[in-house]
Amino acid sequence: MNKALRKAVIAGNWKMNKTPAEARELLEAIKPLVKDADCDVIACVPFVDLDAALETVKGSNIAIGAENCHWEASGAYTGEISAPMLASMQVPYVIIGHSERRTYFGETDVTVNKRVRAALDNGLTVILCVGEYLEQREQGVTDEVVAMQTKIALMGVSAEELKRIIIAYEPVWAIGTGKTATAAQANEVCAMIRATVAGLYSKEDADALTIQYGGSMNAKNAEELLDQPDVDGGLIGGASLKPADFAEIVKAASR
Ligand code: PGA
Repeated sequence: MNKALRKAVIAGNWKMNKTPAEARELLEAIKPLVKDADCDVIACVPFVDLDAALETVKGSNIAIGAENCHWEASGAYTGEISAPMLASMQVPYVIIGHSERRTYFGETDVTVNKRVRAALDNGLTVILCVGEYLEQREQGVTDEVVAMQTKIALMGVSAEELKRIIIAYEPVWAIGTGKTATAAQANEVCAMIRATVAGLYSKEDADALTIQYGGSMNAKNAEELLDQPDVDGGLIGGASLKPADFAEIVKAASR
C-alpha cells in the first residue's frame, strides 16, 4: 500500500569491473533495453569509468553513481576520491558502506557515517548498504546488527536529507554467492529497517524511503523479491554486467 508512494530503484553495482571503453560498450547495450523503464535505473561504476559513463548515458534514463567516496574534501588520503570531486563531475549517486568495503578495507559504521555526511553535504544521493554476516544470521542477531548499522550510518542526517538516502539491505552471505535470501527473509529485514527509520524520524519519512534488496538478485528471482511490500528495488552486482539480465530485473521492477 505504501509501496505506491515510492519509486522503485534498480541500481547496478559494477564493482571492480570494466575499463572506460568497456563501460561505454556495456551502457550502450543496456540503454535501449531499459528505455521504457517505469523505475529509476542507475549504474554505479568504478571511478575511472565515470567520465565515459556520464557521457554515454546523456539523454537516456540511466543515471550514474560512484562506488564510494571519502569523508574529507581533500588531503593526504592516497587512493581515495572525495565527495566534492564526484559533485564536480555531476555524479548524482554514490554507494556507501558496501560490505566489500567493510570486509576488505576496514570500513566501520563510524566511517560509513562520515562518508554519508560528506556525500550529503555535497549534494549526492547515497545508496547506503547494510547487512549481516552468515554467523550473525545464524546467531539470530540480524535485526540488532542491521538496526545498529542503520542508526549509526544515519547519525546527524536530517529528515530533509533522508530524502537523498536509499538503503540497500544486502545480507553478506547472499552477495556473489548465488544464495539469495528468500523473498520473505528479504522483506522481513527491509520492514525492520523501515521500522527503525520510523523510530528515528517519522512514519511518513520511513514510508517515503526506498529500500532495496541486494545479493544474488537476478533475472529469475527479481520478480518475487520485488513483489514484497517493503522491497522497493535492487542493488545488482553480477547480473548488472549482463545487459539482458539487468533489463529483465528493470522490467520486473517496472510492473
Ligand atoms: P551480487 O552483488 O548481485 O553479485 O550478489 C550485489 C552487491 O554486492 O551489491
